[in-house]
Amino acid sequence: MESIGKSRRHFLTTLVSGIAGLLLLRRYLSPQPGKRAVKLTLAKADIPAEGALVYRQARIAVIREKGELYALDLVCTHLGCTVSVTPAGLVCPCHGSRFDRQGMVNKGPADRPLKRYGVEVSDDGIIVLLA
Ligand code: FES
Repeated sequence: MESIGKSRRHFLTTLVSGIAGLLLLRRYLSPQPGKRAVKLTLAKADIPAEGALVYRQARIAVIREKGELYALDLVCTHLGCTVSVTPAGLVCPCHGSRFDRQGMVNKGPADRPLKRYGVEVSDDGIIVLLA
């Protein structure tokens, strides 16, 4: 009878420890919501015509092309390196993926386009919402 009690206690201790471990692991591995919810405010004149303004720390580029303004996430969709903006397009230095100025994949190994963010033009300037 005592053996059954020890066995049950051992089982419950193991179960509770396992659940606690899984919860900690989930918290560590899941993305941090709101972490990249940053607003960048800049003047429209700061962005060169047919050019881009790169924010290295936020890992985004604000691009002006054919009168259109938009922002691209510079996090490579392959394994997360920071993509470089060149006159010919966007290039990942890690494994050589290439993206066009719209963020679409021209050459792998990345198989998904870069994330695109909305840009709002207001009296205060241009606001890029990264969330
Ligand atoms: Fe960009 Fe691999 S991380 S190509």
